[in-house]
Amino acid sequence: MTHNGITAEEWTPKLPDSAGFLGARCALRLPHEYKHRHATYRFDTCERHVRVEAAYRWQVSPRGASRPLEHSRTLRAVVYHARMPTVPFVDPSRTSAAIADEFDHVAARYDLLQRLNPGYSKHLAWSARRLRAGARARILDLCCGTGLSTEAIVATYPDASVTGLDVSAGMLEVARRKPALRHVRFVQGDAMDLAASGAAGPYDAVLMAYGIRNVPDPDTCLLRLREHIVPGGRIAFHEYLVSGSLWHRAVWNAVAGSIIIPLGTLATGRGELFRYLRKSVNEFDGRRAFEARVRTAGFHDVHTEPMSGWQRGIEHTVIATR
Ligand SMILES: C[S@@+](CC[C@H](N)C(=O)[O-])C[C@H]1O[C@@H](n2cnc3c(N)ncnc32)[C@H](O)[C@@H]1O
Repeated sequence: MTHNGITAEEWTPKLPDSAGFLGARCALRLPHEYKHRHATYRFDTCERHVRVEAAYRWQVSPRGASRPLEHSRTLRAVVYHARMPTVPFVDPSRTSAAIADEFDHVAARYDLLQRLNPGYSKHLAWSARRLRAGARARILDLCCGTGLSTEAIVATYPDASVTGLDVSAGMLEVARRKPALRHVRFVQGDAMDLAASGAAGPYDAVLMAYGIRNVPDPDTCLLRLREHIVPGGRIAFHEYLVSGSLWHRAVWNAVAGSIIIPLGTLATGRGELFRYLRKSVNEFDGRRAFEARVRTAGFHDVHTEPMSGWQRGIEHTVIATR
């Protein structure tokens, strides 16, 4: 892995035992910022997700040799901690059944709300296209909801064989009523276990739009999912990933607090799901951390492509190959 052209091996030995610091941070509640020689470590902890980022400053001479900070020009880089094992993001109270219940209640108004969100359908179409699946591919739309992401798949790959899976009966009912999706096989089931849900692969491509953040255990989900994708097959995660950038996090909270939560509550009579949306995005990975999580699950060629509009830097397509 490289960051700003610097390999993990090059900078890792310069970091003190950060895994130890991380443990200490949890146990002893160290300050959010810890300065050690030329490095500043920023610790960001959420209720169940701990992320470490190191802002590391050092010097490179014209010949490329490292120098003490005081004696040459400063090269600044934000280094994401590649050596850190991915931190599990598991909440036993966030069961698939509880999530299904929340989505059942908003299903009837879900499409209306999303169509008020500028760029929603366009960005789903981008993620579908970024899958670069074959014309007759077997494609899974995981956590398909009311089928907005499925519509993007069907429009991009009209001859593909498409399966949509979701845990919410209410969301699926809306999807099944859409004439454009009449050839799609919809399955009610849990993304945590495709085989038990009757949606086992193999698939040539998988789109997971706003799904991975919602499942009870994303790491286990990714590991199992990989087994249902053919070698060389691709997966695209269409997701809000804001942690790691103060600016994008601030924009996300401003949009969620001033538009998404009030509008969602007004339209559905229930604010809980929308407050959960804001909270779960804040607590879930940033782009780099999520890429690392996907790599840890055994995918390769993991990379991210951007969106436009207010979603730029906030919503992403993370693409990976089995
Ligand atoms: C925000 S919606 C996204 C729907 C659709 N992909 C779209 O782009 O509009 C998230 C969906 O994930 C589903 N979901 C959450 N956890 C799930 C799980 N464990 N298994 C299957 N579906 C799940 C919810 O029921 C909901 O329909």
